[in-house]
Amino acid sequence: PQSSSNSVKIHFPRTSRRLPQAIIIGVRKCGTRALLEMLYLHPGIQKAAGEVHFFDRDDNYNKGLDWYRKKMPHSFKGQITIEKSPSYFVTPEVPERIRAMNASVKLLLIVREPVTRAISDYTQLRSHATSSTSSSTSSSYTSSSSASSPSLSSTTGGWTGSSGAPPPRSFEQLAIRPDGSVNSAYRPLALSIYHTFMHRWLEVFPRQQLLVVNGDRLIEDPVSELERVESFLGLEHRIGRHNFYFNRTKGFYCLRNDTQDKCLRESKGRKHPRVDPKVLAKLRRFYVEHNQKFYELVGDDLGWPE
Ligand code: A3P
Repeated sequence: PQSSSNSVKIHFPRTSRRLPQAIIIGVRKCGTRALLEMLYLHPGIQKAAGEVHFFDRDDNYNKGLDWYRKKMPHSFKGQITIEKSPSYFVTPEVPERIRAMNASVKLLLIVREPVTRAISDYTQLRSHATSSTSSSTSSSYTSSSSASSPSLSSTTGGWTGSSGAPPPRSFEQLAIRPDGSVNSAYRPLALSIYHTFMHRWLEVFPRQQLLVVNGDRLIEDPVSELERVESFLGLEHRIGRHNFYFNRTKGFYCLRNDTQDKCLRESKGRKHPRVDPKVLAKLRRFYVEHNQKFYELVGDDLGWPE
């Protein structure tokens, strides 16, 4: 059963809107949309359209749980409802708020190698800053995580994207200060210091309630990563090789179910700018201690390059 946010709604009998039993909490640009769409290939999953931003935005949160439930799709009893809002991960109030809704909710955190994530974030901010028509829709394969973008002026070093604005600064200029040190206050770099956000979640939820999904592996070999997620969610293994085909033009796997073949939209799988190898090496060194702290917190070594 599908729900649509407007006009006439037709639903299967014996379905209703339920609060999510699992939430993809982030991290932004790590494959949150891909993970949600891939999980939706499973007959036991229903997904919310778009990004709901209930727990991270006071104006939404103050509308109450019934408002939130109405944002959820219709589902059969026994199906798992999932929503994703990548900024949950970095918003301080969110863990407590989620626990207040359901202390046994399952949390999915998808991460990527931090430097790659930062470049992806930069690439998205830059594309939004340079295009005045970056608005997104909320249909499944075209919705984006743009709603979670912090304001551009505070994150991009002051690009405005308007005509007459200075040319966008390169990733290297934003990531490295003139004295050669890493500009860890630059938002795309700060958001990749995962442990600074992670510890709050583990103060509120037991470790077993959260699955760390490897976003780099989800790109390379979606089926094996999704098997881990199916197990975590208590689902039978139903998503298999038959659900994917590699699209050479896009350079990513696309999704296939009984009725259609679909790739994620163009804003997912953007071409990244080439980054100076010396800057890459400096950033990788910068993240070594932070990654170690993250591995210790989650009890899992993700093996990111040093
Ligand atoms: P890039 O566009 O930088 O490559 P999010 O949905 O959280 O914003 O994450 C976007 C990222 O999802 C993309 O970042 C891309 O690398 C990743 N991704 C993972 N699997 C994908 C797939 N099958 N198709 C397209 N993008 C995918």
